[in-house]
Amino acid sequence: MSNRHSATISARAGIAQDPAYGAVTPPMYLTSTYELEGFRKPGKYDYSRSNNPTRDLLGDALCELEGGAKGLVTNTGMSACVLALQVLTPDDTLVIPHDCYGGSYRLFTNLSLKKRAFKLVIVNFQQADWAEQVKAAKPKLIWLETPSNPLLQITDVRAVCELAKPLNALVLVDNTFLSPVLQNPIALGADLVLHSTTKYLNGHSDIVGGALIIKDAALGDELKWWANCLGVTAGAFDSHLTLRGIRTLLPRMKAHQENAALIVDYLENQPLVAKTYYPGLKSHPGHAIAKAQQHGFGGMVSFDLATDEKYLSVFFDALQCFTLAQSLGGIESLICHPGSMTHASMNADAQKTAGIGPTLIRLSVGIEDPRDLLADLAHAFAAVEQALKANGARGTGKSAVPESAQSTEHSASAAPQSTTIVSENNQASFRANPALAAFW
Ligand SMILES: Cc1ncc(COP(=O)(O)O)c(C=O)c1O
Repeated sequence: MSNRHSATISARAGIAQDPAYGAVTPPMYLTSTYELEGFRKPGKYDYSRSNNPTRDLLGDALCELEGGAKGLVTNTGMSACVLALQVLTPDDTLVIPHDCYGGSYRLFTNLSLKKRAFKLVIVNFQQADWAEQVKAAKPKLIWLETPSNPLLQITDVRAVCELAKPLNALVLVDNTFLSPVLQNPIALGADLVLHSTTKYLNGHSDIVGGALIIKDAALGDELKWWANCLGVTAGAFDSHLTLRGIRTLLPRMKAHQENAALIVDYLENQPLVAKTYYPGLKSHPGHAIAKAQQHGFGGMVSFDLATDEKYLSVFFDALQCFTLAQSLGGIESLICHPGSMTHASMNADAQKTAGIGPTLIRLSVGIEDPRDLLADLAHAFAAVEQALKANGARGTGKSAVPESAQSTEHSASAAPQSTTIVSENNQASFRANPALAAFW
């Protein structure tokens, strides 16, 4: 395992490794095939579905970041899921959490029910008896997503891995929401780590991709064979862009979560918010575990609007900085309604079981100036308040526009201050920047 720190690994991903001309930034190998050295003398590379130098640089960087033995890069996050599921046979049981990304849930349930690819047991890891439920399932693979999409629920990775060992079960953690700079599941005992590289790793919302990092070299080789066999490997162009993206991963993650902390603070004080979901909140049930196993709380925030569903469109229409769109982890702020967007593939019952309510809103907080983001939210809440009043519903009577959001571009002293979250130690000194204070 590498001794380098994540900031160095990510900043130097693919740097100064060009064997041909000494290019500092890596060249992109846009080729499908490779010339043999001679008859019956293949070179290192033969065909880009199997191996590509640009993709290999990315796989190696991700592998080093996550502390695995093998890093496989796939053409989507979903194909990384399909690849991981190759460890299962129809007699094996897969345990999944009751709340996870809707597309993953759709894949698991349909492969299990329609294709009989494996047996499926859904466990609520937030319940006190989760360990009994997992033991009874006798799983071959336990799938975790922590923090979960979209409710940011936290699962204790160490505890699940300790339980899995005597059961001979593998543990996979979908680490998409945090990225390797904020959580390292292999160090917590996991066997596999999955990423939708579409999100924070690439960070610029201009490709779709995935990755699977494997702790055990032999299992890594087996899954590399499957990646080629299934044809799920990523192209050179997407790999090149993702390599470029991960070089700025750490500063981006810092900026995302710094902004997220300020927004959480604002939402906590906004009367039109019924509940805020963010593991950095001391009131979050997974706060202590998140603090213990993560290196930061991340840039994803969800909340329930405290109104009827019909006011959602008022809220979304009033926003100018947050873009209403699927996905997350790009430098730009996005907002989504999980019930009708990212989790639409879960039926109403499954959504209800997962706790996804009709007015749940998910924010992927970008790296814009937080004053603009807060002003945008304040403007949208004010629009809802106005619509409520117009319909004769009770207004909140509280100004929706925080002073900080009204500050001018150059007024540094007017930057919003956080008051409610994160740091249990030295709270006062860390108020301006609680997320950073907790972890950097
Ligand atoms: C947690 C998580 N895992 C996996 C995926 C699937 O990734 P992709 O959309 O790149 O196929 C997503 C997509 O949103 C996700 O949020």
